[in-house]
Amino acid sequence: MIYRDLSAIDFGTDACPRVPRPERVLMTTPTHFDVEYVINAHMAGHIGDIDRELACTQWDGVRTAFEETGMEVTVIDGAKGFPDMVFCANQTLPVQLPAGRETKLAPVPGAHRVVLSRMYALQRRLEVPYFQRFFSDEAYDVIEDVALADIAFEGMGDAMWHPGRWLLWGGYGFRTNPAAYDIIDRQLDVPIVLLYLDDPDFYHLDTCLCVLDEDHALAFPGAFEACGYDILKHFFKVVIEVPEREARELFACNATCADGEHVILQTGSTETCRMLREHGFTPVEVDTGEFMKSGGSVYCMKQLYW
Ligand code: ARG
Repeated sequence: MIYRDLSAIDFGTDACPRVPRPERVLMTTPTHFDVEYVINAHMAGHIGDIDRELACTQWDGVRTAFEETGMEVTVIDGAKGFPDMVFCANQTLPVQLPAGRETKLAPVPGAHRVVLSRMYALQRRLEVPYFQRFFSDEAYDVIEDVALADIAFEGMGDAMWHPGRWLLWGGYGFRTNPAAYDIIDRQLDVPIVLLYLDDPDFYHLDTCLCVLDEDHALAFPGAFEACGYDILKHFFKVVIEVPEREARELFACNATCADGEHVILQTGSTETCRMLREHGFTPVEVDTGEFMKSGGSVYCMKQLYW
C-alpha cells in the first residue's frame, strides 16, 4: 500500500511487523572512484578534482568505523569505468521479509530478496549487474521488475527501511520515479510512505533523512514538503532537526546508525553531534571530504544487508 497523505495513515510503527536490523555491511573499493561527469549539484566544479590517495584513506576510515561498531564488512572491487560504483547504497534495495512471509512470495522461498535499481544516469546503469551477482551469490532472490520496466529507481539512496519494522520510506523527485514504488509494493506487499524531494542539494532521500532507530531520525526539514515532514513526525517519536549548514555542506544527514547506538557521520557537524548525544546516541566522526565532492558521504558508501 502506498501512502502520501497523513490523513490516509491510521497506523503507527507498532502495527508494522518486526524485521531484524541488518547486521552486515557491503562496501566497494574506491580504486576507480573519480568525478568524471556531473549528475548532481555537488559534483559541479569537481571534475578531475579527486585526490585518489586521500579518498582511499578516507574510505578505509569509514570501513574501520563500521568494523569498530561490530558490523561485519564485506568488500567488492570497484570496476574500471564506473567512478560512482563506490556509492553502493544505490544499485539495490535488499529486503528481509518478516517472519511468516517467506513462502507467500513466489518463486523462491526464503527471507531474502533484493530489488535491482534502474539508475537514473546512463553513466551508472551498468553498475547494477555487479551487485546483482553479489546478492545472487548470497542466495538473495533477485527482483528485476523495476529495472525491466525501465523506471528510474536508485535503491537505498531513496528507499529506506524503517529500523526494525516492515515499513518502507520512499523518496522521489530527482533520481527515483514514484511508479517504482507501485511495482515494489506489488512484489512485496509492503506499506510504503512517499516523500517528495525538490531541492537539488538533497537529490536522494539519504541526503536529508537518516533513520536511527525505531523512534528516532535525523532530518533536514527544509528538504521536505510540510506534509512529508508531518508524516515523518507521525512515525518517529523524535525527529532531530539538522541545521541547514551541516545538512547542506557537511552531509550530516547522510549518516548511518547500523546498531541503534553509534552514528557514523561526516566530521564537523558539531550541532548535530551535540543533539545526537543529547538523545543517547554516540556520534562517530569520519572524514569523507573527497566523496562529498561527488555528492555522497557515509550512508552512500555502503549497503546494509542481512
Ligand atoms: N555521484 C553519485 C551520483 O550522483 C553520488 C551518489 C551518492 N549516493 C547517495 N546515496 N546519495 O549518483
